[in-house]
Amino acid sequence: MKSLLSLRVISKLRVAEHIIAIDLVSEDGEDLPVYEPGSHIDLHLAPGLSRCYSLYGRNSERNVYRIAVLREHEGRGGSRHIHDQLSLGDVISATPPRNNFPLHTAPHHVMFAGGIGITPVLSMAWSLWERRESFHLHYCGRSLDRMAFRGELTTAPFASNVSLYTNDAAPSEQLDINGVFSDTPPGTHFYTCGPTGFIDWVEKNGALYNLDSAHFHHEHFAAEIDTKGDEFEVFLARSKLTVNVHENETIASALLRIGLEIPISCAQGVCGTCITTVLEGIPDHRDQYLMDSEKKSNSLMTLCCSRAVSKRLTLDI
Ligand code: FES
Repeated sequence: MKSLLSLRVISKLRVAEHIIAIDLVSEDGEDLPVYEPGSHIDLHLAPGLSRCYSLYGRNSERNVYRIAVLREHEGRGGSRHIHDQLSLGDVISATPPRNNFPLHTAPHHVMFAGGIGITPVLSMAWSLWERRESFHLHYCGRSLDRMAFRGELTTAPFASNVSLYTNDAAPSEQLDINGVFSDTPPGTHFYTCGPTGFIDWVEKNGALYNLDSAHFHHEHFAAEIDTKGDEFEVFLARSKLTVNVHENETIASALLRIGLEIPISCAQGVCGTCITTVLEGIPDHRDQYLMDSEKKSNSLMTLCCSRAVSKRLTLDI
């Protein structure tokens, strides 16, 4: 496992309603590890409080990581901690960048961003522009004052490749999703980031156009996960321990109950941090991270939210 980075907060600015942007530099002033557009880092905010955030800056910048955080009033505390308690000069630890949402080789790229889902997509747009590749970015928000970086997007050198839409606009000014899919060159790749409902809406419409499903890529900004279900048993093959996972418990919290702490970041089945090998049994996959083929193989599962179809699972822990 790579060692954690030590990052200092050098800027904290409001960039839209309920959204702040934070710049982080290496505590020792050295360059930071290079990242690809679409990458995220996990911030370790406090003991037991770790959250992942996409990097929205230009990945050619070597000395700063830029993140933007939406205050989630109904969230589990990570965004409130950043909004209310993180201050200029604070030093926090973070994982080096990881990328679950990379750009692919394609003649044309179409990105859809919903709300704060703009963050990885903005980094992708800068990278595609720097590489002189063909792309268009469709950015949807509830209203203009809730859309972070719209100033940057409308003045960027690629501003003509960006379209903004708001829920409160006239129907004729809303995103014409069917127009987008019926008018893209062959081989186009599609990238969507935002809430689950937004991603589903984009991809369900895309599926009507006989496009290659391997050309659709997404990253959930937040997921609604139901972690409830019947009690089942988990056997840990390496530790030789057995634990019952109760009706309202996750496997991760059942393991914590018996003193085993596994790495958790999003706790919503979207980041992949808690993926574990399944040796026996059939998982009930509730995450948004694993690919369908991985889910069908029954050999991997996320412990922060997925449960079991079988009465017992054996995990490689
Ligand atoms: Fe993110 Fe489980 S902690 S998928």
